[in-house]
Amino acid sequence: MIYDNKIILAPMVRINTLPMRLLALRYGADIVYTEELIDWKLLRSKRRYNDILKTVDFVDQTDGTIVFRTCDEEKERVVLQLGTCSADRALKVAKMVENDVAAIDINMGCPKEFSIKGGMGIALLEDPDKAYNILKTLVDNISIPVTCKIRIFPTPEETLKVVNKLISSGIKAIGIHGRTRNERPQHAVNTDIIKYVAERVPIQVIANGGSKEIEKHSDIYKFKEMTGCSSVMIARAAEWNCSIFRKNGLLPIDTVITDYLKLAVDYDNSPSNTKYCVQNILRDLQETPRGRKFLESQTVEQICAIWDLDEYCKKKQDEYQSMGIQGRWQVTPDELEPPNKKSKIEEINLDGVEQMKVCFIRANFNDLNLPKTQLHVWAGRNGCKLPTYETQQVEKLFRTILSFKGKKYTSTFWEKNKKFAEQSAALVCLYYLGVVSREELVKLGSVIK
Ligand SMILES: Cc1cc2nc3c(=O)[nH]c(=O)nc-3n(C[C@H](O)[C@H](O)[C@H](O)COP(=O)(O)O)c2cc1C
Repeated sequence: MIYDNKIILAPMVRINTLPMRLLALRYGADIVYTEELIDWKLLRSKRRYNDILKTVDFVDQTDGTIVFRTCDEEKERVVLQLGTCSADRALKVAKMVENDVAAIDINMGCPKEFSIKGGMGIALLEDPDKAYNILKTLVDNISIPVTCKIRIFPTPEETLKVVNKLISSGIKAIGIHGRTRNERPQHAVNTDIIKYVAERVPIQVIANGGSKEIEKHSDIYKFKEMTGCSSVMIARAAEWNCSIFRKNGLLPIDTVITDYLKLAVDYDNSPSNTKYCVQNILRDLQETPRGRKFLESQTVEQICAIWDLDEYCKKKQDEYQSMGIQGRWQVTPDELEPPNKKSKIEEINLDGVEQMKVCFIRANFNDLNLPKTQLHVWAGRNGCKLPTYETQQVEKLFRTILSFKGKKYTSTFWEKNKKFAEQSAALVCLYYLGVVSREELVKLGSVIK
C-alpha cells in the first residue's frame, strides 16, 4: 500500500469497527485504521469465515465475541492497529491477519493508563529500542507494510531523533499526532513539529491532530499544508461527522446516521457498539426529545426506528436468522475453548454451591436488566440483604461465588473478567430463585451444555 497523498480515518477505540470504516471509505477516505486491538485478545481468537455476512471474523474463543470483523470491500485499504509491548506477540498476531488486511500499525501514542501500565502505546516511545525491535521484527517477517503512530516530544529535535530510530526499522510510513504525551485534545496541535520532521525524513509522514480546525473537507488541505505532509489522518472530525471525507461537502448528521445504521445492520454490528457510535455523532442533540428517545433505546431495531429504518432492520435480521446466524455468536457456546485448567478448578471447594454452566453475553443486556441489577432489585423487593461476591482468578479467567440468603451460587464457566464472572454467577442465582427460566437463559445464549 502506498501512503502518498492519502486521506485516512485515524484509529479510534470502539468507533472504528467495520460499519464506520466502510462508511468512511464510501464517503471518500483512502485508507481506514481499525480501533487499537490488543495483541493477546487477538491471540485468543480464531479466524472464521462468516458465510452469511461474507466477512472474516476473529472470534474470541473464551466468550464468542467478535474481536475483529473485516470484509473484501476494505481488504486493500484497512490498516490493523495493534496495541502491544512484545515483538513476539505482535508477530504472531501479524501472521494471523496478514492475508486479511493491507498493513499493520503499532500504536505508540496512546497515553491512557491501561496502555502505559501494559508497556504499550506511549510507553513504547519512552523505550525506543523496544519500539524499534517490535517494528523490525514485523518488517523482517511479514509481507505487508508496517507503520507506527506516535505523539511528538516537546522539541522538534527530540521528535526527529526518535522518528529516525523508528524509521531505520524499515517501516513504510509514520503517523504523527502533533501533541505531546501530556497534552490533551483541547490543546492546540503543534503543526510545526510535524512539519520539521516531515521535511527531514525519507518516508511518508501522516499528519494527525487537526480535527478541531477541520470543519469541512477543504480544511483537510489546509492542515496538509500547515504540516508539510501529503497525507492526513482524521479522528474526531470523522467520529462526529464521517462525511468529512466527502469531496462534495458535509452531509446532515441524520443522513450520516442513516447511512451508518444501514451498515451496522448489514454487518450485524453489536447493539452496544452501534449505540455508542450514534451517540458520538449526536453529541449535544442527545438533549432533544428525539435524542432522549434514542438514549432509551435498547436494541438496534429500536435505534433504527428513530431514523425510519425499522423495516430495513427487521427484514435484514429476519433474513440473517433464517440463514442461521446466531446473534453475536459465531460459535456455539459449547465450541468455546476457555483454558479451563482442570487441576486449578479442582482446588476450589464447591461443596454446597449451586452450580450451572452459563456465560454472560453483554450484548444481550441493557444497563437496566443486567443480572446483578435484577438480583439486587429482587433482594430489595423481598427485604433481603444484598448478595456478596467472591471472585477467583486463574490466569486471565475469572469465576465468582455469590452468597445470597445463606446459599452460594456459581457458574462453572470461566469468564474473561471479574465483572462478567459476577454477572454469570448472578444469572445462576436468578435461575435458582425462579426469577429467570431455563428458556430465558437459552434465549440469552447463556446456557452451555
Ligand atoms: C474516541 C477516540 C478513540 C481513540 N482511539 C485511538 C486508538 O485506538 N489508537 C490510536 O492510536 N489513537 C486513538 N485515538 C487518537 C486519535 O487517533 C487521534 O490521534 C487524536 O484524536 C487526534 O486526532 P484528531 O484531532 O483528528 O482527533 C482516539 C481518539 C478518540 C477521540
